[in-house]
Amino acid sequence: MSIKVAVVGAAGYSGEELLRLLARHNEAEVKVITSRKYAGQPVSDVFPRFWGSDLKFTAPDVKTIAAECDAAFLALPHGLATEYAVPLLKAGVKVIDISADFRLRSTSKYQEYYGEAHPAPELLKLAVYGMPERYREQIKNADLIACPGCYPTSSILPAAPLLKGGLVSTEGIVVASMSGVTGAGRKVDLPYIFPECNESVKAYKPYGHRHLPEIEQEMAAAAGVDHEIAINFIPHLVPVNRGINSTILMNAAAGCSMEKIASAYEKAYGKEKFVRILPAGKCSDTKYVTMSNCCEIGYNYDPRTNKVILTSVIDNLTKGASGQALQCLNIMFGLEETSGLL
Ligand SMILES: NC(=O)c1ccc[n+]([C@@H]2O[C@H](COP(=O)([O-])OP(=O)(O)OC[C@H]3O[C@@H](n4cnc5c(N)ncnc54)[C@H](OP(=O)(O)O)[C@@H]3O)[C@@H](O)[C@H]2O)c1
Repeated sequence: MSIKVAVVGAAGYSGEELLRLLARHNEAEVKVITSRKYAGQPVSDVFPRFWGSDLKFTAPDVKTIAAECDAAFLALPHGLATEYAVPLLKAGVKVIDISADFRLRSTSKYQEYYGEAHPAPELLKLAVYGMPERYREQIKNADLIACPGCYPTSSILPAAPLLKGGLVSTEGIVVASMSGVTGAGRKVDLPYIFPECNESVKAYKPYGHRHLPEIEQEMAAAAGVDHEIAINFIPHLVPVNRGINSTILMNAAAGCSMEKIASAYEKAYGKEKFVRILPAGKCSDTKYVTMSNCCEIGYNYDPRTNKVILTSVIDNLTKGASGQALQCLNIMFGLEETSGLL
């Protein structure tokens, strides 16, 4: 049996990455790829890497997707997913949204960070946060997946086992992240053109980035606290195409040790295929995860300051977006979780 899928927003970076991964998936067949700009054009005209493919872009049309597909990936700018998710879910199509629209469980946080009321609050109860290493059981039965953001993936995966194990405090957490330029999408925008961002490293939105409430939400859930937690999240733009590095500082709790950190990671990720824990004291490196669905995590402890120092790297377009989305599709349809991803 092959699962028939649509990629809505297939002409963007995460859409292209989905097509790259789906091309080597034996049990998923791409039926519909949408782009308003390239409607009617063969995919290989836009992305020559798909030379030989019969696929053509079409303008997004819910009826066509509902008639032809079992699942739809939404790789659209935030704020648009509801328009597709509502009718597709009604028609029995499973929806995997890569945008931010269904990630926050709190409508007031959505209003605060996105500047408008959530367009479909009833769907938030249905949405499952698409991080398989933490929500695999819920993903199995989900109809709507809210794929995590790229920065949140790179910070929640390393932090969660330590928060869950009480090895670190929920207070005073600092996440400093660096992202490659594809994180901003495939569009022409002055700060992201080559001469503007090459040979330069720059922090931006050191307070109030839209990924902040998502990281706080999932770190609080991992710690098992029923109150909000407040962290500092400082993103940086770095002149590489792909990749995120997050360095996370956390206050060690009494009794925390490198051995206990190692065993918390072994318990959480020992059997996981896409999380690699480095030997104690090593730091992760983006070049070992580029074009892969892996998150690589390093851990350190500084007894002088009592800080746990985590480093974590992912490819923003793979584990940070389309790879993780495909991992969710595999789980939802009972396929091998690694299909198309190894
Ligand atoms: N880039 C990353 O590293 C990354 C990581 C995690 C999550 N995400 C999220 O994934 C989503 C897509 O990101 P991206 O970087 O792939 O964006 P992108 O490169 O800008 O691509 C956006 C896609 O959406 C289509 N689109 C735009 N407006 C549309 C509309 N009104 N109706 C229908 N289609 C529309 C575009 O094609 P046409 O204009 O031709 O229709 C294009 O195919 C975003 O929500 C982003 O936040 C991105």
